[in-house]
Amino acid sequence: MAFTEISCGIYQDEKRLYTLNQSVSASTNREFRTWDPHHSKLAALILKGFMPPITESTVVLYLGAAAGSTASHISDITQNGLMYALEFSPRVMKNLILTCEPRPNMIPIFADANHPEKYSHIVDKVDVIYQDISQRNQAEIALKNVSCFLKDEGCLIFMIKARSINTIAKTRDIFGKEVEKLQEGASVLETVKLPQYRDHLAVIATKL
Ligand SMILES: C[S@@+](CC[C@H](N)C(=O)[O-])C[C@H]1O[C@@H](n2cnc3c(N)ncnc32)[C@H](O)[C@@H]1O
Repeated sequence: MAFTEISCGIYQDEKRLYTLNQSVSASTNREFRTWDPHHSKLAALILKGFMPPITESTVVLYLGAAAGSTASHISDITQNGLMYALEFSPRVMKNLILTCEPRPNMIPIFADANHPEKYSHIVDKVDVIYQDISQRNQAEIALKNVSCFLKDEGCLIFMIKARSINTIAKTRDIFGKEVEKLQEGASVLETVKLPQYRDHLAVIATKL
């Protein structure tokens, strides 16, 4: 099969996206792992043409890592970097720890993203914050973490889930208000709609 590297560590053929499996349990053969845009908003965002500023040495803070599906693909890319993968559900955390075990560059953190002061002794300054959290105060959570951890030249990739904020208002209005809140502490560079995720908006931002 012919794979083209479309961005550092991200590959594509005619149909799909892939990353190269970097887990220590992977065989010595190169194994391309399919990165499904229906299960990963980041993959959907890449297919819309946004190449995340993630390379082999990038340090990432991932807020809302769940069982680590998308996080494991980022870990494939940042083979010499580091990822702090934060999750607050005890049930999901067990699976996240299993995902992190064969991946030395992934550090699982059991904490609530609303309280960065509780993990600031573990997390260093990072190049990228990726947030995919279904909470009413998503922008507020993003701003707290940007202020504590994002390097001056770093990038925030923030997935807004409208229906976690308001179940009846028009998604366009919810997105507008959430982006406005984010702009109180960050500079929004771009917003991208994701065809696979009707109620979500991807927002790319930097520090003010
Ligand atoms: C939509 S899922 C994330 C899916 C994941 N990003 C992926 O693509 O594989 C959202 C996750 O955020 C977690 N979460 C929600 N609120 C949180 C908070 N305040 N702090 C940390 N994690 C949180 C949830 O438990 C859930 O696992």
